[in-house]
Amino acid sequence: MIYANLMFLTCVSLAVGQNLVLIGGNLRNNNLPVWNMMVELAGGPGVARIGVISASNSNTTEGDRVINNFVRLYGANAIEIAVNESLANNILVANLVQKQTGIFIVEDSEDKAANFWDRFTSLVRPNDTPVRPPNDVVCYESASYKRQNLIDTLRPSGMDSLVLTAIRKVLNNGGMVAGNAAVMSKSAVILGGDSVAALLTGTLFISSPRVPFSFRKAGGLALIDTDYVFDSQLSEKGREVRLIRTLLDSNVSRGLGIDENTAVIVSNPLLQPVGKVLTEMGTTSGAFYVDVSNVPVGAGAAASYDNVDFSFFTVDDSFDFTAGKAIYPTWKKEIFGQEQFNKAVPSDDILSLALPAQWRQTAVGLINSNEMSVTSYSAPSIVPLIPGVQVVFDRTRAVGLRARLPGNSNASVVSFQGMSASIKVLRILD
Ligand SMILES: *[C@@H]1O[C@H](CO)[C@@H](O)[C@H](O)[C@H]1NC(C)=O
Ligand SMILES: *[C@@H]1O[C@H](CO)[C@@H](O)[C@H](O)[C@H]1NC(C)=O
Ligand SMILES: *[C@@H]1O[C@H](CO)[C@@H](O)[C@H](O)[C@H]1NC(C)=O
Ligand SMILES: *[C@@H]1O[C@H](CO)[C@@H](O)[C@H](O)[C@H]1NC(C)=O
Repeated sequence: MIYANLMFLTCVSLAVGQNLVLIGGNLRNNNLPVWNMMVELAGGPGVARIGVISASNSNTTEGDRVINNFVRLYGANAIEIAVNESLANNILVANLVQKQTGIFIVEDSEDKAANFWDRFTSLVRPNDTPVRPPNDVVCYESASYKRQNLIDTLRPSGMDSLVLTAIRKVLNNGGMVAGNAAVMSKSAVILGGDSVAALLTGTLFISSPRVPFSFRKAGGLALIDTDYVFDSQLSEKGREVRLIRTLLDSNVSRGLGIDENTAVIVSNPLLQPVGKVLTEMGTTSGAFYVDVSNVPVGAGAAASYDNVDFSFFTVDDSFDFTAGKAIYPTWKKEIFGQEQFNKAVPSDDILSLALPAQWRQTAVGLINSNEMSVTSYSAPSIVPLIPGVQVVFDRTRAVGLRARLPGNSNASVVSFQGMSASIKVLRILD
């Protein structure tokens, strides 16, 4: 036993310092816990040297903001390193990258949509028209061609460029690497479409979703060595079903979706990754974990998914990616027998893009109630033509934990593991 503990300590101490920061999109400039953590993991204020990498010919809007935050607000040194397809294999650029103690990858790049001819290339779709990014955040949603451009530049045809090799060395040498969670996987990377589009793609149901569902099967930057699909802005944009469908279509069983302005700090990303949820003070956001290995084969085409196993982790929860298990901090207590509500409240817009976090709120309400299941719906619509969807949550085998929320004593924070969902498209005439 003592021997086993010593072994454990040795492994942990070897791993200290390798950290991948998975950002759930729309990271606010004033999110002190996350920015301070990134600087800390890169060596601390005054020591940290952070390279901000974009797939561009020159500096970008988002890169400038990230630099400004690190240098002006959080006490790190930072430089912008623009990398296009030729610079990505330039030894001088790779050496510069390797000299940093931290790397922040931005998806922003030059606006190809502004170029007349690019409108006719397959990389730019009509819905990709650039929108002005919000002022006070980084890792905002960028057009899907930018996401593809980033991956194609750093990892063309699934082969590491010299710059990506250098980024990996920064990690291996004990540095910090950060960026939008969605591009970090070695498994499929989601490019576009909402949950309804994802649910109905390639089924017999007639529908006309506004933004087509698409993902990149060849994977992303592969900065975490585990077969997971990642997504960002998960609860806010109701992306649970889009993540589930991507898993089923790409033959990957597990996924992790991170909420906006939230991060999962992954230690040991290239060996035995363990993540920990970090949020802004006083918020109940977190990470949605899902496992589709018990969903019956053929569910995709039938648009009917049973036995979707899902969990939700909140601030300070740790998560072992390999085992698929959570470790909770002692200040959170099991809810069982101490539920606060009699009834669970269903949502009538469970996959909503407009009302944030319907899935999360409904599931958190169920685990904190005396009921065992709750049935929610997503309403059908005529324009665009979309059938209704029914979503049933069952908590029979789930375990929930609750605590007063640090920084906001009036609210509780709730985590749970092992809830089950059934998702079914309703025929228009049902
Ligand atoms: C890459 O960027 C550099 C510096 O801006 C530029 O000189 C070069 O032409 C670019 N290469 C490509 C392939 O765009
Ligand atoms: C790009 O950003 C760096 C700071 O990281 C700055 O030194 C450089 O002047 C910028 N280049 C341009 C063309 O603005
Ligand atoms: C899916 O993955 C499993 C193992 O992960 C493999 O045995 C199976 O052949 C794969 N199926 C397809 C259709 O790729
Ligand atoms: C908690 O609620 C009380 C009464 O409604 C209010 O005065 C107080 O400001 C709240 N505290 C926080 C941290 O929101």
